[in-house]
Amino acid sequence: MNTERPDGSVRAASARSYLMCRPAHFDVTYSINPWMEPSKPTSAQVALEQWKRLHDTFIGLGHDVQLIEPVPGLPDMVFAANGAIVVDGKVLVARFRHAQRIEESEAYLDWFGRGGWSEVRQAEYINEGEGDFLCVGGEILAGTGFRTDVRAHDEAREYFDRPVVSLTLIDPRWYHLDTALAVLGEGDVMYYPAAFSAESRSILAERFPDAILADEADAAVFGLNALSDGLNVILPRQAVGLAAQLRERGYRPIGVDLAETLKAGGSVKCCTLELRAEAI
Ligand code: ARG
Repeated sequence: MNTERPDGSVRAASARSYLMCRPAHFDVTYSINPWMEPSKPTSAQVALEQWKRLHDTFIGLGHDVQLIEPVPGLPDMVFAANGAIVVDGKVLVARFRHAQRIEESEAYLDWFGRGGWSEVRQAEYINEGEGDFLCVGGEILAGTGFRTDVRAHDEAREYFDRPVVSLTLIDPRWYHLDTALAVLGEGDVMYYPAAFSAESRSILAERFPDAILADEADAAVFGLNALSDGLNVILPRQAVGLAAQLRERGYRPIGVDLAETLKAGGSVKCCTLELRAEAI
């Protein structure tokens, strides 16, 4: 499964392992980001159907998908990306900022605790997992500004023994790093510049001079809340501008509809936690 690019290089998919959580108890009962409006009707049934299509898309692409049991009363638990960061088989479980999500950590500690991972521990500082930590190459990009405490960046650097690059988010609509930036492949990302502080924008421009830049319309439909396996890029199907740019760069965009979870401020990436390295 690969596509050759005009310059002769090749985009290639590699099999991934993901953790997901069925939105069995999905609802918007509180508001902790600007997208959440508890007065708007939601349907756990529709959320489940849309989520199932995302799940089946991953399976169809040959990826492994593990499931964590949803807990009643934790409607945001569908956003598995927030549960932890998993790198080199080591797990750093989240510590949530908002009271409404704090109990989710327990479920992740329990799930990873039973899985035979080399090391599992809960973050000491507020840390919303892969919502704010994204691996690119050997490095970890880390977001702060709304959720994750900047001290959690140092904690992750020490725990994973990897370089961590801090980035500051400045617009509450893009409150997690994974709503404003997506990793496409080794050293390749796409992002929405206006979501970042001026300093972070220069860091990104310097590190990723060839990055795909999203416009506000694509960023506002969560087009950057995407997941790439190196070739296939699963993203909200409304993000048509990004899909076209991805195609031009030799990626295969695959649009999915996650309109229901979007009401809680989350899409493809938020629903998916990447499990990097095998359990022992
Ligand atoms: N309602 C959830 C929250 O505000 C959405 C989380 C989205 N997850 C993500 N990885 N961006 O916490």
